Amino acid sequence: MKKILIKKGTVVFPQRGVLQDADILVEDGLVARVGKGIEDTQACPVNASNLLVGPGFINLHVHLREPGRETEENLWTGSRAAARGGFTSVVSMPNTHPPIDNPLLVRYLLLRAKEIGLINIFPAGAITVGLEGKEMAEYGLLKEAGVIALSDDGRGVQDARLLYLAFQYAQYFNLPFILHEEDEGLSRGGEVSEGKVAALLGKRAIPRVAEESLMARDLVLAFRTGARVHFTHLSTALQVELLRWFQKKMPVSADVTPHHLLLTEEDVLQWGSEAKVKPPLRSLEDQKALKEGVKEGVISILASDHAPHPLEDKSLSFSEAPFGISNLEIAVPLYAKALIEEGIINWVELWEKLSYNPALFLGLNNKGILEEGKDADITIVDPGTRKKVKVSDFESRGKNCPFENWSLLGWPAYTIVGGRMVMAEGSIVEDEFC
Ligand code: DOR
Ligand code: ZN
Repeated sequence: MKKILIKKGTVVFPQRGVLQDADILVEDGLVARVGKGIEDTQACPVNASNLLVGPGFINLHVHLREPGRETEENLWTGSRAAARGGFTSVVSMPNTHPPIDNPLLVRYLLLRAKEIGLINIFPAGAITVGLEGKEMAEYGLLKEAGVIALSDDGRGVQDARLLYLAFQYAQYFNLPFILHEEDEGLSRGGEVSEGKVAALLGKRAIPRVAEESLMARDLVLAFRTGARVHFTHLSTALQVELLRWFQKKMPVSADVTPHHLLLTEEDVLQWGSEAKVKPPLRSLEDQKALKEGVKEGVISILASDHAPHPLEDKSLSFSEAPFGISNLEIAVPLYAKALIEEGIINWVELWEKLSYNPALFLGLNNKGILEEGKDADITIVDPGTRKKVKVSDFESRGKNCPFENWSLLGWPAYTIVGGRMVMAEGSIVEDEFC
């Protein structure tokens, strides 16, 4: 593998909270040098002037649909979408067909990911067998096979005793949880948030308490057991308050998606099922509280819940259409719009939430930090060029996306994974970079 020399970039050091002008030399998959005025005539040069260079982005919540729904997305299309989106690593969710609840499937995913060799794919394993909420999966075997976390994403674990035991059992294997919170008794049959849009359209509502009550329960379970838990896709103001309160007592983290930061229930009126997601888009007040949570650091991670679905399914009636938004390629500029353009956080803080904090949560000690000897997983972002979202250009098979034609700043320009250039100037590097 050829060396890469990134020249004249503004380097982001999220762990120290600073930006510095520096060059970076990448060699043998690792960051070899960081400093000013580095020269190396043998290395492939990258001119990073006016660009931001930092540790690779890590997306804790991505649906790659393999095995079972490869026509909707698969490890290859999803890897390309991730690389284009500036993500060097993703956590793949286990709600596939069949679900990732046994070591064979985990090994299969890791083998495929290695064969494709574009980005790092870290599979999450199921909390319960078949995601059915009835019986614990074999966490020891899942961990041995390579899962990085446990999740029943798409569903909440309804049985408190089961999760209480799972929280204890998983600690033997040092496995953290990524929790989708939804009391199915409360959300039953719901399609949109409770509120004026549900009333206007006559749609069945998903009340806020569906997420809040299960989250409150699981915060208590985590407090009592000492489990490492992360709450994914927060959508309500009270969830932020719950988290704020419990963070005074124990380490616990959460993330928010770009769509919950940029859209509200009112967008369902315009976009119909393109804006049908779980948890549902909620009110402007909820959105403000989520942004405040990001600003304060209560929400310390940004994860996109990339959920590709075929347009045939999304064009069914609203009630029949599946939940989800495809966003892997545009998550970074969407976050930049929601958080940086609005003055809520700056680029260093954004990087911390997209790279350093998720690496810390996942225990990836050689990622999330740009310094000599660490993995050369690097994302380079162009903060100054505006571009329009063109869903038809997505590498992802999921074209279900309500952000078509949005004009955004902050697009990833280069993605380097394990010292290899996988995306350059917005396109996948098909052969050798230079
Ligand atoms: O909108 C969603 N789509 N939310 C989820 O929790 C699951 C996901 C999916 O798998 O499509
Ligand atoms: Zn979910």
